[in-house]
Amino acid sequence: MTALPAGYTLARDVALRPRNTFRIDARARWFATVHDAQSLSALLEERDVRSLPLLVLGQGSNVLFADPWFEGLVVHLVCDGLRVLQDSPGEHAAVRVEAAHDWDRLVDRTLRLGMRGLENLALIPGQVGAAPIQNIGAYGVEVGEFITAVFAFDRVLHSMVRLEAADCGFGYRDSLFKREPDRRIVVAVELRLPRDAATRLEYAGLHEELVAMCAAPTPLNVATAVRRIRRRKLPDPAEIGNAGSFFKNPVVPLDLAVALREQHPALPTYPAGDGHQRKLSAAWLIAEAGWRGFREGDAGISAQHALVLVNHGAATGAQLLAVARRVAESVEANFGVRLEPEPRIVGATF
Ligand code: FAD
Ligand code: EPU
Repeated sequence: MTALPAGYTLARDVALRPRNTFRIDARARWFATVHDAQSLSALLEERDVRSLPLLVLGQGSNVLFADPWFEGLVVHLVCDGLRVLQDSPGEHAAVRVEAAHDWDRLVDRTLRLGMRGLENLALIPGQVGAAPIQNIGAYGVEVGEFITAVFAFDRVLHSMVRLEAADCGFGYRDSLFKREPDRRIVVAVELRLPRDAATRLEYAGLHEELVAMCAAPTPLNVATAVRRIRRRKLPDPAEIGNAGSFFKNPVVPLDLAVALREQHPALPTYPAGDGHQRKLSAAWLIAEAGWRGFREGDAGISAQHALVLVNHGAATGAQLLAVARRVAESVEANFGVRLEPEPRIVGATF
């Protein structure tokens, strides 16, 4: 390892297995740990790495390494400060959070400071810097609603930039950052959080969970309920390798959704887009096609939740990807609906 006074350390041939929640055995040619985001420019100019492909890696909870060798530079940020920029009692608070801050810890900290909004997003794994990449969402809320600006190092402009929320192209599990991967290294996120806002309990099952807990739920109660539901529904990466939902819920034209519902009345569908589209439950389609609990070697589909691709131990990224492709082909053959993967696939295309 080369230790530099420059705000980062650079190591060669680094194991990525402890750094991805699929627990895929992969290695990177170079791995940079960045303590000071201002040093990114110097890091990317380093002779050994400047012409290599780049991958920004947070906690690795939404990546699948399809190839066991990454012939490039992995950039991992470790700056995790939080600063309250402005606070108007009874109105809003503005906070700036550095990229490496743990997401769930941020949810907890802001709620304890009396700031609302992030409670429905409790227990999503990952760093704050990754939150805008796919505009993380859960239980009827998306982070893009609260982001005012994203600060990033832009590799094309070779400078730090501030992107206003309106310029981030946030959509369902989508953003400008996801469409141009690794062009911008997110170094901090600015959020505007209401101090006084109604709780949002529309997502199926959330209200019911709270009724059993308390009469007038606070945002902290909502976060507790969300955590409970998530622990029940989703396999825990500490116990079995996974990256949460492997596929996005497909958004299809309204007439296709209506036709599918006529054939399959139990298929859950949700509003999407401008009313001419509907979002379908990918989990239901996959389960209905018979894949729930499927296992071949150590690669499979969770028996707990059909949307979760799992590594029972020693599956390679290629084996996991092969199962995911078969699932998608089977859903397309059965229902005429194409599934798109949600996580970043490194070293292959879907
Ligand atoms: P990584 O997995 O390390 O990276 C993901 C992508 O973001 C990669 O393309 C990476 O290059 C890029 N990236 C990461 N950090 C940066 C940065 N600083 N700058 C630029 N690019 C960056 N997601 C949801 O939306 N909702 C959920 O409910 C949800 N539930 C999950 C449950 C489980 C059990 C798991 C394992 C995952 C779940 N996810 C969910 C997915 C995941 O938690 C999120 O996508 C999270 O934001 C990923 O954070 P990370 O730090 O692990 O990012
Ligand atoms: N369902 C099945 N079989 C299953 C699981 C679910 O048929 O094995 C059906 C049920 O009818 C259920 C419906 O699917 O009512 C929806 O299930 P769930 O509430 O678990 O939500 P989801 O659509 O499967 C999405 C997100 C999750 C997020 C939850 C809660 C996507 C791709 N996934 O899952 O996000 O936590 O809603 O908001 O949008 C992630 O992105 O990694 C992730 C976990």
